[in-house]
Amino acid sequence: MSETVKTSQTLSAVLDRILTLEIVRVTERAAVAAARQRGRGDEKAADQAAVDAMRRELNRLPIRGTVVIGEGERDEAPMLYIGEEVGTNEGPVVDIALDPLEGTTICAKDLPNSLAVIAIAEGGSLLNAPDVYMDKIAVGPGYPAGLVSLDASPADNIKALAEAKGVPIGEVTACVLDRPRHAAIIEDVRAIGAGIRLIGDGDIAGVIHTTDPEETGIDIYIGIGGAPEGVLAAAALRCIGGQMQGRLILDTEEKRERARKMGIDDAERIYSMEEMARGDVLFAATGVTDGNLLSGVRFGKKTIMTETVVMRSSTQTVRWIKAEHRTLSKFQ
Ligand code: FBP
Repeated sequence: MSETVKTSQTLSAVLDRILTLEIVRVTERAAVAAARQRGRGDEKAADQAAVDAMRRELNRLPIRGTVVIGEGERDEAPMLYIGEEVGTNEGPVVDIALDPLEGTTICAKDLPNSLAVIAIAEGGSLLNAPDVYMDKIAVGPGYPAGLVSLDASPADNIKALAEAKGVPIGEVTACVLDRPRHAAIIEDVRAIGAGIRLIGDGDIAGVIHTTDPEETGIDIYIGIGGAPEGVLAAAALRCIGGQMQGRLILDTEEKRERARKMGIDDAERIYSMEEMARGDVLFAATGVTDGNLLSGVRFGKKTIMTETVVMRSSTQTVRWIKAEHRTLSKFQ
């Protein structure tokens, strides 16, 4: 665009009409590239393939984008690092959060729920978080505001959820990453009779699964995972509805310094979903491996099939896109 987009209305229209479908191409390409490495036991190769494909496609988008959540900080990630500028350098100024392959290990082992993921928002709208851990809690839509809190114990959060849902505690299931650091959470939750779905990896999917408990069997996500994944999950929940809180784990001076450089002075701060992903947000995820909500990439003789969910916060439209790709050269 030769002239800078000046009004939020115009920017909003661009985000909706152009970018909604364009970002699907971005996650589709990354997912197909990663899926070619599915089950090969090589996490790095799968991740690299997804990064290359996502970056190539992103640089075709008519945006002036800055990666605020990416593959890592500049000194450790050669591509799609935090601060990298992407797009054709024409069009709206946007923040981008991405994870070309969420769940590198699950892709390498061909286990459920690895995804290619992106979120796009107006410039300055996404939390610039360093690549550290984040303590997270999330529930889906339909509950009173402030139902769950990182300041409450896992047991108290689950009791509140069971009461609001109108079910016995024994019918509530929490999703938790299977890590030794979560031993106390697991004990606390099981002690009150609730169930736990332990996942090996992939907590963006874990958070998204809370939005459809009937389909996924998960009511609440609790525990510590990556901060980049936290911001991406918050962007998704902004679009579908739900509640989430995140607190960065800044437990060393080096991490606090990295956070300060990104404008984060309060190391203890709890971020709401809206503080992690503000304004008008677009989110897209394409399945790499099969999962509860999205099927993984299918390679046919003459086609490649992908399944993507793309959503927008301002309208809360959720589009499920099953694509049959016949121009296979685009995916080489
Ligand atoms: P990768 O895709 O980078 O492998 O991340 C997978 C993941 O499970 C995330 O979903 C999660 O937030 C994070 O790793 C947890 O980190 P750790 O494996 O160090 O506990």
